[in-house]
Amino acid sequence: MEKPRQTRRHFLRALILALAAVPLWRFLTPRMTAVKPVLRIGRDTIPVDGALVYRESRVAVMRTADEIYALNLTCTHLGCTVSITPNGIVCPCHGSTFNRAGEVLSGPASRRLDRLEVRIEGDDVVIFS
Ligand code: FES
Repeated sequence: MEKPRQTRRHFLRALILALAAVPLWRFLTPRMTAVKPVLRIGRDTIPVDGALVYRESRVAVMRTADEIYALNLTCTHLGCTVSITPNGIVCPCHGSTFNRAGEVLSGPASRRLDRLEVRIEGDDVVIFS
């Protein structure tokens, strides 16, 4: 007669441990965040010292003599889409300005524009989110 009580107690203990382990498992396993390609463009289509702007993707692909990089055109102040002008990068919402590297020249934004991952694959440039 005593044996069924122990079994129930063991079962409840195991159930509680299992329920507690489910949320812990989520925090203990590494997150697999998928990095998705946003754009694929030909390397030769990017003008040297120029930029290709994809407003719908909020991406600008910039090229210097030494480097190809991509900027996220989301303003780091409150999230408006910045505009690239011949004189630099300007946010139309509150007037923050950035240089071509995405560094803040004047606020209210206090953080540079985010750079996106760029991979060169053959003659293509692939931009990842
Ligand atoms: S959202 Fe760009 S300066 Fe405010």
